[in-house]
Amino acid sequence: MARKNEAKKATKREPIVLGIESTAHTLGIGIVKNGKVVANEKSMLFEYGIHPRKTADHHANVFSEVLDSALQKAKVKLKDIDLVAFSQGPGIGPCLRISTIAARVLAIQYDKPVVGVNHCVAHIEISKHFTGFEDPLVLYVSGGNTQVLVKEKGRYLILGETLDIGIGNMLDNFARSVGLKNAREVEQHAERTNEYIPLPYSVKGMDASFSGMLTQAQKLWNRRNTDELCYSMQETAYASLCEITERALALTGKREVTICGGVAQNRRLQKMLNEMSSEWNCRFGVAPNEFNADNGGMIAYVGYLLMKKGKAKKNALKPNEILPIPKYRTDQFKI
Ligand code: FE2
Repeated sequence: MARKNEAKKATKREPIVLGIESTAHTLGIGIVKNGKVVANEKSMLFEYGIHPRKTADHHANVFSEVLDSALQKAKVKLKDIDLVAFSQGPGIGPCLRISTIAARVLAIQYDKPVVGVNHCVAHIEISKHFTGFEDPLVLYVSGGNTQVLVKEKGRYLILGETLDIGIGNMLDNFARSVGLKNAREVEQHAERTNEYIPLPYSVKGMDASFSGMLTQAQKLWNRRNTDELCYSMQETAYASLCEITERALALTGKREVTICGGVAQNRRLQKMLNEMSSEWNCRFGVAPNEFNADNGGMIAYVGYLLMKKGKAKKNALKPNEILPIPKYRTDQFKI
């Protein structure tokens, strides 16, 4: 009888899910317990860009430390984990290999069920979790990705996207060519002025392209003030992002707008989208910065959603199926 009650209790208990993120510069391990991210530990390597092999070595070297720290923070042991979710793609091959190998070890050595998670979908779902939005129009902006999406029959459909370079990579590229470290420094310099230098602006339907403005801004360096160039880059690029989001909003009639991904941390972009959304009487929301940067918590959260929806078993991978998908498209993952 006691055993029966125990089993009943165990089946009633909310699942505990471990998430592993290693698509690019960040090795992240998150744990979801009682439907909340209770641990979100990470270690990042980003020195003037990403060197794939060095970054993968970094992830492998810090893995145990980050895992221990997440388990301690969540006050759980590895044996308590009901499901392991790993970031399957899109991402950089050598970096992706680390979460893949870790997931395989957990499957073989510790007999844990494993599911692969699309990194982009995880950014969107964690944003919905924190904003409380159920059916938002999503602007997903990171290093390699720039997409406008809506959910349709369990998949995120891409309504618009960059036609060339991802917004984050474009800003990082620009930063390095004018002697700055990264896009974060571009934001700091942009806040020092409001002198605008006209730059090429390219929106085609609900798509945008950024390489023209990047080339022109690089040409102007040495002739123009760095703060003004940073300000103009942000204003031009973010105005085009607002325009494609607004076009998608007009088309879909959504009532909620969210932004996610690394570049979603930019205050100026948040302000512009907030203003645009209120002009359309739409709610605007964004997750805390910690969850817009790459993290394991969002991967664990998607694993948790799969469990709650009864899809974890169907999605569970055999050890030999635990492989990276470097070019995993957002619309290929169903949730
Ligand atoms: Fe990301």
